[in-house]
Amino acid sequence: MVAQRGSPWGLRCLFLCLAVQFALEAAAEYFKPFNVSYDHRALIIDGKRRMLVSAGIHYPRATPEMWPDLIAKSKEGGVDVIQTYAFWSGHEPVRGQYNFEGRYDIVKFANLVGASGLYLHLRIGPYVCAEWNFGGFPVWLRDIPGIEFRTNNALFKEEMQRFVKKMVDLMQEEELLSWQGGPIIMLQIENEYGNIEGQFGQKGKEYIKWAAEMALGLGAGVPWVMCKQVDAPGSIIDACNGYYCDGYKPNSYNKPTMWTEDWDGWYASWGGRLPHRPVEDLAFAVARFYQRGGSFQNYYMYFGGTNFGRTSGGPFYITSYDYDAPIDEYGLLSEPKWGHLKDLHAAIKLCEPALVAADSPNYIKLGPKQEAHVYRMNSHTEGLNITSYGSQISCSAFLANIDEHKAASVTFLGQKYNLPPWSVSILPDCRNVVYNTAKVGAQTSIKTVEFDLPLYSGISSQQQFITKNDDLFITKSWMTVKEPVGVWSENNFTVQGILEHLNVTKDQSDYLWHITRIFVSEDDISFWEKNNISAAVSIDSMRDVLRVFVNGQLTGSVIGHWVKVEQPVKFLKGYNDLVLLTQTVGLQNYGAFLEKDGAGFRGQIKLTGFKNGDIDFSKLLWTYQVGLKGEFLKIYTIEENEKASWAELSPDDDPSTFIWYKTYFDSPAGTDPVALDLGSMGKGQAWVNGHHIGRYWTLVAPEDGCPEICDYRGAYDSDKCSFNCGKPTQTLYHVPRSWLQSSSNLLVILEETGGNPFDISIKLRSAGVLCAQVSESHYPPVQKWFNPDSVDEKITVNDLTPEMHLQCQDGFTISSIEFASYGTPQGSCQKFSMGNCHATNSSSIVSKSCLGKNSCSVEISNISFGGDPCRGVVKTLAVEARCRSSSDVGLSQF
Ligand SMILES: *[C@@H]1O[C@H](CO)[C@@H](O)[C@H](O)[C@H]1NC(C)=O
Ligand SMILES: *[C@@H]1O[C@H](CO)[C@@H](O)[C@H](O)[C@H]1NC(C)=O
Ligand SMILES: *[C@@H]1O[C@H](CO)[C@@H](O)[C@H](O)[C@H]1NC(C)=O
Ligand SMILES: *[C@@H]1O[C@H](CO)[C@@H](O)[C@H](O)[C@H]1NC(C)=O
Ligand SMILES: *[C@@H]1O[C@H](CO)[C@@H](O)[C@H](O)[C@H]1NC(C)=O
Ligand SMILES: *[C@@H]1O[C@H](CO)[C@@H](O)[C@H](O)[C@H]1NC(C)=O
Ligand SMILES: *[C@@H]1O[C@H](CO)[C@@H](O)[C@H](O)[C@H]1NC(C)=O
Repeated sequence: MVAQRGSPWGLRCLFLCLAVQFALEAAAEYFKPFNVSYDHRALIIDGKRRMLVSAGIHYPRATPEMWPDLIAKSKEGGVDVIQTYAFWSGHEPVRGQYNFEGRYDIVKFANLVGASGLYLHLRIGPYVCAEWNFGGFPVWLRDIPGIEFRTNNALFKEEMQRFVKKMVDLMQEEELLSWQGGPIIMLQIENEYGNIEGQFGQKGKEYIKWAAEMALGLGAGVPWVMCKQVDAPGSIIDACNGYYCDGYKPNSYNKPTMWTEDWDGWYASWGGRLPHRPVEDLAFAVARFYQRGGSFQNYYMYFGGTNFGRTSGGPFYITSYDYDAPIDEYGLLSEPKWGHLKDLHAAIKLCEPALVAADSPNYIKLGPKQEAHVYRMNSHTEGLNITSYGSQISCSAFLANIDEHKAASVTFLGQKYNLPPWSVSILPDCRNVVYNTAKVGAQTSIKTVEFDLPLYSGISSQQQFITKNDDLFITKSWMTVKEPVGVWSENNFTVQGILEHLNVTKDQSDYLWHITRIFVSEDDISFWEKNNISAAVSIDSMRDVLRVFVNGQLTGSVIGHWVKVEQPVKFLKGYNDLVLLTQTVGLQNYGAFLEKDGAGFRGQIKLTGFKNGDIDFSKLLWTYQVGLKGEFLKIYTIEENEKASWAELSPDDDPSTFIWYKTYFDSPAGTDPVALDLGSMGKGQAWVNGHHIGRYWTLVAPEDGCPEICDYRGAYDSDKCSFNCGKPTQTLYHVPRSWLQSSSNLLVILEETGGNPFDISIKLRSAGVLCAQVSESHYPPVQKWFNPDSVDEKITVNDLTPEMHLQCQDGFTISSIEFASYGTPQGSCQKFSMGNCHATNSSSIVSKSCLGKNSCSVEISNISFGGDPCRGVVKTLAVEARCRSSSDVGLSQF
């Protein structure tokens, strides 16, 4: 949807807007004002120690229209806190001109978090890394003469302080701090500075001391953290980031153990594999953290989202920031990750009274690689109001088996327990296991992408093209216009020598044209022929993409991060136009000295192979042109797209380089997330109704390096369970629903290397297939234990039978049971088969409970399945179900 001044949200979200508006006008106070402090054990919120689970969600990686649902799904998943960075480059795109609108409306985001009853951890940085362009720094920062980032440099400190103060003041003005009744319980200054501090020597130490004092001096009235900063000064809490943080100890006994980034997945690069972290290992890491004294853990990311526009960092990070997070890029639950963690959070909550009551756990060695940590109320905790938790539980325990291979049988307080390898069992009452990290009871969901939609050209061509039968799939059509190679505007200039790329572009565009003329004599030609050689562009070092054009033709491309270039070029006799196009694909976001990193070329840059010696490029006159013509004319917007002379594209036309395409499409009906499939294209950028959906690139991941089986056991690293080998890293690109109107959506594509736009399609993403597998030996559902509404109703273990839960996404119901077997079923989701033991009526019994419902539960017991199908055998129920939209999915009405 095109933003219109005055009503930026349009009618689509009328209900939502009203709800949000109401929340905003009711001026904060989501909580009774409360203070936040801490001791060595935990954050103390309103006088109470708390065990907190936090969900990382970066507001600009979703649309404001998505925020309420993401926050609601986080809350339903059992988290207490939402964590986000503040994105300086988005908030101050031009020095002194602030932007808090749209995806950068951080006040609205914070209000939504507060309105949902969750807390907020705001990490101001302002360096944030985050796989975000330039680590979140505005690119103008590097143009301040004499500035050095993240060190004791007066110019940098002044800019940093101004932004940090701006953010703290804004939060205070909007009454978003805890003591004002707002959701903010904690802030962060700097980010993982410990990783690079050594490179700055004494000035680094001085800087971090200054940063701490500056932050504390702003009077925010809530604690501050520094992550990966073992020397965090004074009252700033040093926190851990990593795949595991259970061994972490802060630098003072007075500070609690916090885990600001639990890497539950990883990011991906163009041409790379996709990472996957199995939830059994993730749950193990989290349980171990609380087991060994941790008190605050944040999933980085709980929802990763999308790097819209040119916000992706890098170089070479893809547009999707899905991160293999519990909520996927499109805002759908990623199962079983979300569900298994929800069960874990409920189990930890059951233990919270004992965890906060104890000053430290009692350690019991149970075996060579098995251990227990027991939390009991003790004499040191008299100052805290334990009874206010309304629970009788006074002893909770975690039993861990850190053996990577073998299960173990252990005896704990006189009872026997079986512990699967690499797992933790949680015993909220020190007797009954309610959860084991390796036993996944949560359903699996398989995301389906379906539904190709037709694209058509011409804004009022509905009648012409759209019919209600299948013919509509062949009515796709496209308009096209060529992007000029080289100079296209008065804004070109000519100087001697090669300029640094970012110094010229200021990152207003990925592209910088360098244009010169090369004279080739008769002698050169015969010299090349005689020696069977050609001239070559030779560059010591280049990033990220170089394209070489000779006499208007693209003759070579080089891709890499500071790589050597030897690009042969074929010249004609006389004057030749030589055009070098340098491109960035996300600015560096990690490391020291970012201000010096730059882009384009470094070192010696020359043309080799000439009879009279090399031609030094630094001695030539070069004409420079920033960006692409279509980009600067904004021909991707509804208002400006007619500025280009579009012509009809024929399917017989050869693929062309540096070319624009446009078409129109209607929105698919319903609420399923929408994706653009650009798998048929090369490299470029795409816009829908003027919204920049990001860079695309169809680079393919290596054929090898994806394991056949992902074994959750043992320490995780980002390569361990990667998948998608031999396929393009990304082909689907999220188009947020709120950017669409019901019909005639303008899609504009800039293609650099050639592709087939006729194969571009619109797809819908939904969790169409559900699977679950729960055995008799599984624990009763934690949710039943965790029943804060009925504290008085004492639930005993014997009342509880294991259950299977199936749930479709909102607005969907279970439409069929594809497989159901109570007995000894084999295989995994979409590959289930019956075993020797099978209750004949399995399918009809599951169907009876589930068909036509959004969610259902089935008890795993002999009685439910009409008797015992095989005595003396532990039985399992495996189910595969299909979800369907309650209102049939289809095209919008024409
Ligand atoms: C928070 O602490 C401040 C300073 O100690 C105190 O004045 C204020 O009353 C406290 N507020 C609450 C809600 O406890
Ligand atoms: C402890 O908390 C409970 C419930 O919130 C409250 O009723 C009780 O007065 C508190 N006790 C003390 C000593 O503050
Ligand atoms: C490039 O700049 C020169 C000098 O300003 C100008 O004369 C020329 O018209 C420009 N080229 C284009 C294509 O606008
Ligand atoms: C970029 O510009 C700055 C200031 O104009 C200058 O100091 C610096 O040397 C330039 N960088 C390069 C690599 O030319
Ligand atoms: C010229 O060089 C190319 C490769 O550089 C080679 O393939 C070709 O055979 C050579 N031709 C002659 C005539 O030597
Ligand atoms: C099913 O029945 C068998 C006896 O046939 C019994 O051993 C087992 O405990 C029963 N299981 C459940 C879950 O009721
Ligand atoms: C299975 O279902 C049929 C028909 O509903 C019923 O007659 C039969 O008793 C059932 N069998 C068992 C073992 O429950």
